[in-house]
Parts: sequence; structure tokens; C-alpha cells
Amino acid sequence: MAASQANRKNRIILFVLTTVATALALYFVWSHFGGLPKGDHAKLQKIPIFVLAALLGYLFVRALNAAIFDLIFRFRKGYEAPTLARNVFTLLVFAIVFVILFRNVYFEYDLGALFTTSAIFGVIIGLALQDTLGNFFAGISLHADRPFQVGDVIVVGSHVGVVESITWRAIKLRTFTNRIVLVSNSNAARESIEVSPRNNLNARLVFFGTLYSDSPAKTIHVVREAVRDADNVSDKITPIVRIRNFGDSSIDWEIKYWLEDYAKYNDTDALVRQRIWYALRRNGLTFAFPTRTLYLERQSAARPITAEDQIADRLSAVDIFAPLSPDELRQLSKATVVHVFAPGETLIRAGDEGSSMFVVHNGRVAVQISDRGTPRTVASLTDGNFFGEMALFTGEPRTANVVAVEETEVFEIGHAAMKHIFHTNPDLAESISWTITERQADLARGSESAQPSIAQSAGLLSSIKRFFGLR
Ligand code: CMP
Repeated sequence: MAASQANRKNRIILFVLTTVATALALYFVWSHFGGLPKGDHAKLQKIPIFVLAALLGYLFVRALNAAIFDLIFRFRKGYEAPTLARNVFTLLVFAIVFVILFRNVYFEYDLGALFTTSAIFGVIIGLALQDTLGNFFAGISLHADRPFQVGDVIVVGSHVGVVESITWRAIKLRTFTNRIVLVSNSNAARESIEVSPRNNLNARLVFFGTLYSDSPAKTIHVVREAVRDADNVSDKITPIVRIRNFGDSSIDWEIKYWLEDYAKYNDTDALVRQRIWYALRRNGLTFAFPTRTLYLERQSAARPITAEDQIADRLSAVDIFAPLSPDELRQLSKATVVHVFAPGETLIRAGDEGSSMFVVHNGRVAVQISDRGTPRTVASLTDGNFFGEMALFTGEPRTANVVAVEETEVFEIGHAAMKHIFHTNPDLAESISWTITERQADLARGSESAQPSIAQSAGLLSSIKRFFGLR
């Protein structure tokens, strides 16, 4: 702002000095050639009149320029008028004023003839100004198209930067290393230009990689939450975290986020990366780097805690397995299979055959039935709850859909393992038949289409026994 004011002051001083110098020179010519022949003398006498008129013409053009571009553009439209438009306008009005003045002061000369007879001169000037004119017309077409404005970030050729001005000759860019690059208009017209408009939500992609052992659902949640409140990340659109590739030694991710001020994307990218680092660290997730996995078997006196111990631990907390001894729990845990499901995945589909049941180790699932074609949740099951027992113990098709609400780890227990347990714990069949009866009653209440099954008759327990070959 201060710089442009100083510029204006300099221009005014220059203008006043030039005018004074011209007036002095004229005075000198006037007094020196006072004794010229009559005709020449009259022509010379017109010079100061012409200069004075030109001076007034100049002031008129400046005033018109200020009125149109400063008042209309800056104050009413709220942005600076393009320099090129200003210059072209000024040049045109100057030319018109010049012609009018010349015709009025030197009416004895024919301006038209002057221009037509100077065709050769025009060709020479045209050739000399070929590049300049090329830039000029490319500049005009850029202005007509208005593909970008001052303040937008553009990529043109190998240059990236913020547009500072568009003149009749070049586009002035300020690069992100604070250098000025001038891209000539004719070059810009030949290149493809990528524009990130200033008043637009422009997006960026930042890449990172995690270990294959890290959970995708957890990574998505952790990274998205870490990035969304970073400075300059727009809160109008939630960042998107997604897997872009399964790399050699990492799950390759990208995060797409939208910026409030695109011109600061370098800083914001860096901040986003920093946030990701801290978030992964806090949540026990690990950045991947080229790795080779070696499995070492350690001999140790103390028996290490195994996955089976953990499964047995979880099963002991499930109410129907409470009567089982530690040994039986270990037997059962050996026969279980661990599965992880992503949010939204279906674990059980209504109507399918089923010969296993599931215990939720961690996460949450929804039990859903179809209510006139739309899914309705009848129960939400979480850590330590079980499902899928109905089909397993009655031999009937699955009664409902079971869908993971969040990332969910479950233990699957098959028919053979349960049969073994029933033989050693006949009472188990009774507590399971209670659960099934309750759930079937729920289902019947929740859906008009739910069919009363054999389990709703008093013979559920005996049918379980029959199904498993128990006495
Ligand atoms: P199954 O019929 O094998 O498959 C669907 C499972 O959803 C079913 O076993 C039950 O374990 C479970 N389920 C059905 N209804 C309910 C309910 N009301 N509450 C909890 N779980 C249910």
C-alpha cells in the first residue's frame, strides 16, 4: 500500500518536472527563433497552445481513469481493476484526445494521410514489436476469458505461485520461495494453466503409510479427527482418509482435506503431517517403512500369555459359559476362530444356514430384521455378548441379519466344539434354551413377519438335546 502511494507521488513529480522542462524548452525555442519566416513562426506559435491543451487532455484522461477504475471497481465492486484493462483504456482515450487536439490546433494537416503514407513505417514497427504485440493480444484474451484473478494460485509450465498482477506483457507470480516470476502472456496462452481460485475450497492430498498389523478403521478415525481441527483446514467438509494401495511393506494411505486459504498449502500440508505423527503415536499405530518380518521363537521358563489365554479369558466372562471349568474354557478357546469385521460388514445374513455361534470380543454389532423391506435394529450387542446361537442350537435358518456397527472382533465357535462341551455340561443346554426363547419372543414382537419357530414351543430344550444327540 505504502509502496504504491510512493509510486504515485514519484509519477506526479516526474510529470510536473517534464511539463516544466517542456515549457522551458518551448520558451527557449520561441525566443531563439523569434525571427523566423512568417509561416514557420505561426506554426511555432501553436506549439505552447498544443502543449497546454495536451496537458489538460492528460489531466482529463487521468481523472476519467480514476473515476472509472478506482470508484467503480475498487469501491463498488470491491476489487482492483486489472492493470491491462486500465492501460488499454488509457491508451485509447489518449489517442482519441490526441487526434481531437491535433485536428483543432493543426487543422491544416491531414492526419489520415499522415498515417496512410507511413505504411512502411508501420511494417517496420510491426516487425519490431512482434513479441510485444503477441503478449499484448494474449493478455487481452486472458482478460476476456478471466480464467484466474489476482490472488489465485496457479501452476503454469514449471512455475507455481500466487498471481500478483496481469499486465499487458506478463503474468507476475510470487512463488512460495518469495521470488517473482514473470510468465509472458504469449507463453501462458500456449501452456495449460492449473488454477486454484482464491475464493474456492481447494483440496490437497497428503500421503502416509502404516503397518499391515494396524487396523484400517482405527487409522481412519484417528487421522481424520487429528486433522480436521488443524489451522487452515476447512471445517465445511470433513477430511477423507482412504487406502490408496497395499504397498510392499505398508498400507498406503491418502488424506484429502480442503483448505481455507490455498496459498498456504505448504504450511498446512506440513501441519497435517505433524498432526498425523502425533495421533498415530498416541494411539499405538505405527508408520511403515521398508521392513522384513522375522519370527523368532523364544525359549522361556515362564509360559507366555497366548492368544488362547486371552480368548479363554473373554469366554469366561460370557454368562452361558460361566459353568465351564478353566480347562474346558481352554479347550473351547482352542477350537475358536478369530475374525475382524469392518464397520458396515455383514456377519450373519437372515435365512442362511448356520452351524456356528459368535462371541463379541470388542466392538459392536446390530441385530437387524427386515420391517417391510427396511432394516430395523432389534438389539445392539457388544463386548462379551454372543449371537448366532439360534441357528446353531435349533438347526433352523438364521433369524436376523447381524451387521458390524464399528470395527468388531469376534470369536466363532463351531458345532463340534459345542457338542463336546454339552456332553460334559448338560446344564448348559438349559441356559441357552432360555436365551433363545427370550430372543425369539423379541423377534416376534419386533416383526409381524417373524414366524413362530419350534423353539417357542415348550420343547426347545428337548429339541436342542435331540439336535446335539444328548440324553
Ligand atoms: P441366529 O438366528 O443364528 O442368527 C441371527 C442372530 O441374531 C440370532 O441367532 C441371535 O443370536 C441374534 N438375535 C436375534 N434376535 C435377537 C434379540 N432380540 N436380541 C439379541 N440377539 C438376537
